Amino acid sequence: MKSVKPTIYVTRRIPQAGLDVLATAFEIEVNPHDRVATREELIAGVKGKDALLCLLTDKVDAAVMDAAGPRLKVIANYAVGFNNVDVGAATVRGICVTNTPGVLTDTTADLAFALLMATARRVVEADRFMRAGEYKGWGPMLFLGQDIHHKTLGIVGLGRIGQAVAERAAGFHMRILYTSSGRARAPKEVERRCNAEHRELADLLRESDFISLHVPLTESTYHLISDEEFDLMKRTAILVNTSRGPVVDEKALVRALKAGKIAGAGLDVYEREPECEPELRELDNVVMVPHIASASVETRTRMATMAAQNAVAVIRGEIPPNLVNPEVWKKRAR
Ligand code: GLV
Ligand code: GLV
Repeated sequence: MKSVKPTIYVTRRIPQAGLDVLATAFEIEVNPHDRVATREELIAGVKGKDALLCLLTDKVDAAVMDAAGPRLKVIANYAVGFNNVDVGAATVRGICVTNTPGVLTDTTADLAFALLMATARRVVEADRFMRAGEYKGWGPMLFLGQDIHHKTLGIVGLGRIGQAVAERAAGFHMRILYTSSGRARAPKEVERRCNAEHRELADLLRESDFISLHVPLTESTYHLISDEEFDLMKRTAILVNTSRGPVVDEKALVRALKAGKIAGAGLDVYEREPECEPELRELDNVVMVPHIASASVETRTRMATMAAQNAVAVIRGEIPPNLVNPEVWKKRAR
């Protein structure tokens, strides 16, 4: 007999807690391979489904939505960033798009700070040195890095994650500047709580010792940091990126690092993941991790539950808690 339960395609195995929530409302099909679904697999998987739970590594565009067919009501993205989904195309088709904001805020801020500290104090380079058996005794000039405390931190994008980074920086007595990159200035209350002064981007780049990026990837933040911006930075500056790779012009970053225009970079994201500019791997003043900002057991579990709850809500006819395109709901109500 044909199942009466709505169906969902999950593009890759997520923590069980999320699948348990989905099971309350859906017949679940999970991509059986532990890797990113190919475009063909994605299209075949979503065909005829009522819902899609996807990852930031899945490009969900109009063609995928059309391949799914008219039953598709919700695209639940397992990420806070949703640049991988064509939200406009979903809206015109009456499909809800949801994300997982909030739960990964502190976890991402922790990693941004870890990268900042590891780069400034050359932790990874020193670890490699130790493992290579090169340590011959304490030295006055061995692995001199840069202080973090009492330095100036420039936060590009004072949203939830940017604010959480500012809270951490307070413990290091850092001076905090921020820019909202096109968006409105942060509310006075946020500026006060974060002890952050507003600057135009160019001024922030000139004045900061550390620059940490916390903007979403949009047309206006694509290559926000390129040659011209590196030229403005201090030669001792360290850039930290835990946002999205294409916010930084990666070739320009390599040029800046090689020319000594800046002192270092701590990177979680890359312009063409899983690729990165090969020269980055050769540079000792770069600390690189593979897009793990939200990768704690607790946070990934919460993200799974949240993405699942969003999908379940839509299927039950309720407004999902994290709807990215609220216009769609008004359209449905008419
Ligand atoms: C991670 O990069 C996310 O957007 O959740
Ligand atoms: C994510 O939580 C953000 O900073 O918008």
